[in-house]
Amino acid sequence: MSTHSHRRGSVYACARLKSTMAASFGVCRLHFRSLGRFHNFYLGLETQTHRRLTSTISAIKAQAVNNTVTKPKENKTFQAIQEERREQAERSVLISCPPKFNENKFLDYLSKHGTINKHFFYSGYGTYAVVEFSSEESIASLKESTNLPAVEHEAAVPFKSRLLSLKWPGGQLKNQPMPTFQEQSPPTIGDITQLLSEKDSIDEQLQCLTEALQLTEENISLRFLVCSLLGDIARAYFPECIIRPFGSTVNGFGKLGCDVDMILDLDGIYATSQTKGSGLSLEYQVKRGASERAVTQSILSVIGKCVDQFGPGCVGVQNILQARCPLVRFSHQPSGFQCDLTANNRVAMKSSELLFLYGHLDPRVRHLVFSIRYWARAHSITSSIPGAWITNFSLTVMVVFFLQQRSPPILPTLDRLTELAGPSDKCVIEGNDCTIVSDLSKITLQKNTDTSAKLLQEFFEFYGNFPFNKASINIRKGKEQTKPEITALHIQNPFETTLNVSKNVNATQLERFVKLCQESAWLFQKSEFLNRSSSQSSESVSPWGFSALLLPSVTSGAGVKSRKRRKLEPTSSRIKNLLDSLKIKGGETVAKKGIAGPSR
Ligand code: CTP
Ligand code: MG
Repeated sequence: MSTHSHRRGSVYACARLKSTMAASFGVCRLHFRSLGRFHNFYLGLETQTHRRLTSTISAIKAQAVNNTVTKPKENKTFQAIQEERREQAERSVLISCPPKFNENKFLDYLSKHGTINKHFFYSGYGTYAVVEFSSEESIASLKESTNLPAVEHEAAVPFKSRLLSLKWPGGQLKNQPMPTFQEQSPPTIGDITQLLSEKDSIDEQLQCLTEALQLTEENISLRFLVCSLLGDIARAYFPECIIRPFGSTVNGFGKLGCDVDMILDLDGIYATSQTKGSGLSLEYQVKRGASERAVTQSILSVIGKCVDQFGPGCVGVQNILQARCPLVRFSHQPSGFQCDLTANNRVAMKSSELLFLYGHLDPRVRHLVFSIRYWARAHSITSSIPGAWITNFSLTVMVVFFLQQRSPPILPTLDRLTELAGPSDKCVIEGNDCTIVSDLSKITLQKNTDTSAKLLQEFFEFYGNFPFNKASINIRKGKEQTKPEITALHIQNPFETTLNVSKNVNATQLERFVKLCQESAWLFQKSEFLNRSSSQSSESVSPWGFSALLLPSVTSGAGVKSRKRRKLEPTSSRIKNLLDSLKIKGGETVAKKGIAGPSR
């Protein structure tokens, strides 16, 4: 009886939650989370926050030590790593747990269905467990013994997915120790500022930032599991399809909290069977669409509808089918991820592989990409809302291009990666040559001993003076090319070479980026900026080095009004203000000035 009422309670709670959630649930959630982050930063670190901070910071430090995603395991190729993770996700389940339960009893119960390889817990909108079995048969056995919820006043869609709810008889769970929860959200900007200020060099800061922000093994597993759960829905229509993550989930530059970009991969359907003997063969009769784009749109439209109406945990589904790359956007509530499902987008998967490869050639690449992306977000150069802003993908390509310009170059050109490819690497997608070497050991790098700090400084100098009006950024050639069209910022798409990755960027946004680069380059010249003051205790360290670069800019406000006002101020006083702000203690600085906060 109690199990029954528990079950009913959770279904009602879920239904209530669903009905109160606006279509933009996930967007709101992410938005509030980031607003909270900046709020924290701009209002300074209060006592209560400080207490929490100490424990959060120890957690970030521990996480950084445990995190092993920086190096490809045993020199496996990108494809092999993705395939291994996908296969693990197919053997996993996601279980919503009650607020109190006994971890050992829970695992014992599940072990009746087979050996558990790995498991972890996290808390978001409730407590969840990810459990990976060693064999897919365990999933079948577990599903056999799982019930559909009984509901009296509502009807449930009887869809049996691998998203389950644990029902625990109440009464016996006082003083239960709670399991350890794995963090799935990024540290706040306040935590980051404090953490970095305690470091002894800018190089250490950049490494620490990367380790604190990067996706954890658990977070990547959860991302693959969400793709796998979605695959179960899509396979109702196309049994051979696979849903694969791409973008920052897999390219090595993902930050905790970033979206999950997914591709509906239908290649398995197109694989043809060999006919032997008589020469006779059979062909499927199929419906034809007006164009490949129209077929993609109709496939995504039905899957979007199915996800909306039958997909457990999927809320706020929007079909964005008129975009250049049609997509279905939704929030996966149990994981807290915002998901973008696309189809027929194999080139983007190849771009992800390319970035993965660049990111794993030299640790300085990831340090630079993480720091530039973080710096850009702190100054609202990038945004989670689509618009005329520079995107994280564009910034990453700009970092790669900059590293190709060093003397000697730190990264090889894309043309070189194509030259090094073996016969099995050959890949042409819709007429675009997407061939790149998959074996990292074939790539010989030149000896360049620049520190990450020097590279960061010179990145700002490079783009603070780049001839954006006439030059295009081209990582294929590793050289500036003449801009083929009139546009503020031209970054050639690595594989679809007629496309501009940053077509959306307008002159105002480019100008903000350039000004901020100039200001940041200028800050690097100042000794107050470069060194941690030795007189400060670790309790009260002022932001310096990279954390000082995150302080509100005096030159590039996001709003038109604020920018006009600042133009009246003489340059020397703007610079003086900036330096003064660096001298004040971290929390007080932003609380006192309260300027130029990100407005989105
Ligand atoms: N992409 C592309 N051309 C663009 C934008 C995106 O080819 N103009 C591809 C890239 O492979 C990119 C992926 O789509 O990595 C996902 O795009 P997006 O989510 O915007 O970027 P991410 O790299 O995933 O970064 P973020 O962390 O901001 O999500
Ligand atoms: Mg993304």
